[in-house]
Amino acid sequence: MRIVRTTDYKDMSRKAANIISAQVILKPDSVLGLATGSTPIGTYRQLAEWCAKGDCDFSHVSTYNLDEYRGLSHDHVQSYHYFMRKNFFDHINIDLANTHVPDGANPDSDAACAEYDRIVADAGYPDLQLLGIGRNGHIGFNEPDSVFSKGTHMVNLTQSTIDANSRLFDSPDEVPRQAYTMGVQTIMYARSILVVANGKDKADAVRAMCFGPVDPQCPASILQLHTNCTVIADEAALSKCPL
Ligand code: PGA
Repeated sequence: MRIVRTTDYKDMSRKAANIISAQVILKPDSVLGLATGSTPIGTYRQLAEWCAKGDCDFSHVSTYNLDEYRGLSHDHVQSYHYFMRKNFFDHINIDLANTHVPDGANPDSDAACAEYDRIVADAGYPDLQLLGIGRNGHIGFNEPDSVFSKGTHMVNLTQSTIDANSRLFDSPDEVPRQAYTMGVQTIMYARSILVVANGKDKADAVRAMCFGPVDPQCPASILQLHTNCTVIADEAALSKCPL
């Protein structure tokens, strides 16, 4: 794992955007694995700025998001379909037909997950996978468990994730209890991985990810076994790491 220390959120976002931009410059038809959450928003904003200036071209890029709530329509304001359009796709020159998010509106979880595995495999898996990390060490919606997950599957969200995400809903009761997520094995198929983390409430998870045992109780710890994983984190998120 390469660990890049940044001064603050802005610095983290710029450095992550630089790596994604370089990926797209070197391979204009890159397959990008993308993430939702608060952490990558600054990265998306920076890339959109460069795209508006003509410095970054997404016209041949295709994207595959990690996860989606089960039971929300694609235009629901809390869906990850909506999040990605609002925070990224509407501001760059990507063809929306080349963007993919698991189909949370399909209640048939087996069919929705199998279909997503098929399209990610057909795309040859991401050249670069962007990840945030949950306070409990989750990646995508792969929550702490006794095993590492494989392909796309339905998950019951843990109370800590429901609580963390309830800030974005009008009331905690509205937070969906289930989601479809790419599995840990699929995430590990990406040729490169870029994890972004900021803030002191991520410090325990970042330490467990980078320095703890490789243990499905911290799903992100598997990234220690990836051959090309970069963690970009601010001082606060790295504050508990033995660096
Ligand atoms: P956050 O979420 O960026 O909103 O902190 C990260 C995650 O849960 O993966």
